[in-house]
Amino acid sequence: MNKFEKIICRKDTKCYKWDYLKEIFGRNDLLSMWVADMDFKAPAKVIEVLEKRVEHGVFGYTGLTDSFYSSIINWMKNRFNWHIEKDWIVTTPGIVPAINFAIQTYTKKQDKVLVQTPVYYPFFKSINNNKRTLINSELLLVSDRYEMNFPDLERQLSHDVEMMILCSPHNPVGRVWKKTELQKVAELCLKHKVLLVSDEIHSDVVFSDNQHIPVPKISSEIAKNSITMFAPSKTFNLAGLSISTVIIPNTELRQQFKNTLLKLGLHGGNLFGIEALEAAYKYGSSWLDQLILYIEDNYKFIKQYIKKNIAKIKVIQMEGTYLLWLDCRELKFTQKELVSFFINEAGLALNDGDTFGKGGKGFMRMNLACSRRLLKQALEQLTIAYNKLEKNNSTR
Ligand SMILES: Cc1ncc(COP(=O)(O)O)c(C=O)c1O
Repeated sequence: MNKFEKIICRKDTKCYKWDYLKEIFGRNDLLSMWVADMDFKAPAKVIEVLEKRVEHGVFGYTGLTDSFYSSIINWMKNRFNWHIEKDWIVTTPGIVPAINFAIQTYTKKQDKVLVQTPVYYPFFKSINNNKRTLINSELLLVSDRYEMNFPDLERQLSHDVEMMILCSPHNPVGRVWKKTELQKVAELCLKHKVLLVSDEIHSDVVFSDNQHIPVPKISSEIAKNSITMFAPSKTFNLAGLSISTVIIPNTELRQQFKNTLLKLGLHGGNLFGIEALEAAYKYGSSWLDQLILYIEDNYKFIKQYIKKNIAKIKVIQMEGTYLLWLDCRELKFTQKELVSFFINEAGLALNDGDTFGKGGKGFMRMNLACSRRLLKQALEQLTIAYNKLEKNNSTR
C-alpha cells in the first residue's frame, strides 16, 4: 500500500486540525480539511533522526552547524537550481513570525504594505497588528485560473507603498507563478522602491508541468531588493517544530533583520526543528517526489469527481500547494449559509473563503493532504448534502 494511503488517527495529539473542531467549527463529528498541515507521517529518515536524538536524552542549547547550512544550500541547488551563500541564511521560528519581523524591521507605523487577495490571512493580521496600512491588489479570476492584475498592482505600488508581501506559490488560489509574472512584480517593486518580501513556504509542492522560481534567482538586482522565506514545515509536515529560513542576499537588509532578532533575544533555535530540517533536506527528496504525485492525483480525482457529481461547485485550477480553492458562488448562499452548509449538512471542516480577504466570498478552501480514502468519504458526504439541497430547491 502506498504510504500516503494509510489513515493515521491524529486525535488527542494536540493538533489544531482534528483536536479543536468543537472550538472552531462548533462540532466534533467533522472530517477535517482546513488548516494547512498534512495527515501524513514525516519521512521515515526524519523520524529516525529525531528518535535517535530523543534517545540521547540531553536537550540543551543547540547551535547551527555547517552541515545544517549545507543541507539548505544543497536543497536550493537541487530543487530550484539556485545558488545561495551560507551568509544569506537567517533562521526564524516560523514564516509568520518572520513576516512580522520583516514588517517591524523595514517599515514604520502607518506605512503601506501591499498584498494580493484572496491570500493567506495572517498577512493581514501581521500588517494590522503592527499598525501598518493594508493595501490590496486583488487577483483576477480568468476562467478557472487566477492572474495578477498588473495595471492595478502598478497603480497601487506607485502610491508610496513601502513593502509588498508576495505569496509564491499562492495560498489559497494554487498558482505557481511563472518567471514572467515574478519578473514583472519584482521589476515594479524596483521601479517604485518597494521592498519585496516573498513567502515561498509552498515552493516544494509544485505539480509536474510547473516550476517554482525563487524571486531572488531572477536577477542580482532583484535579489538585492528581496527577502525570501522558506521552510520544511509544509513540505515534510513539520509545522509543530517551528523552524524556517529567511534568505537575504543584501548585506544591509540582512543586518537590519538580524538586529530585530537580536532585540527580541531570538537566537539559536528549537533543537528538534534544527535536526528535522537538516534530515528532511538531506534525505527527503524522493519522499517529496512521491508526495507531489499523490497530491496531484488527489487533485485530479477531486476535479473529475466534482465536475461529474457537484456541478454547481467549480474547482479552481491548481498548479501546486495542497490547498484547493473551490468556487461555490453558484450555490447562491450567503457566506454564513455556505459555511454552515459545509459544516452542518456535509459534515466537513473547510476554511471559510471570506477569511482570505477581498475576492474570497462564495469560496471555500479544502486541504487535499490526506489519504484518498478520506477524500472520497468527504466527497460522498458533500454529494449527499448537495443532492439534498438540489432536491429541496427543485421542489420549492
Ligand atoms: C503562505 C503561508 N505562509 C506561512 C504559513 C505558516 O508559516 P509558519 O507556520 O512557519 O508560521 C502558511 C501556512 O499555512 C502559509 O500558507
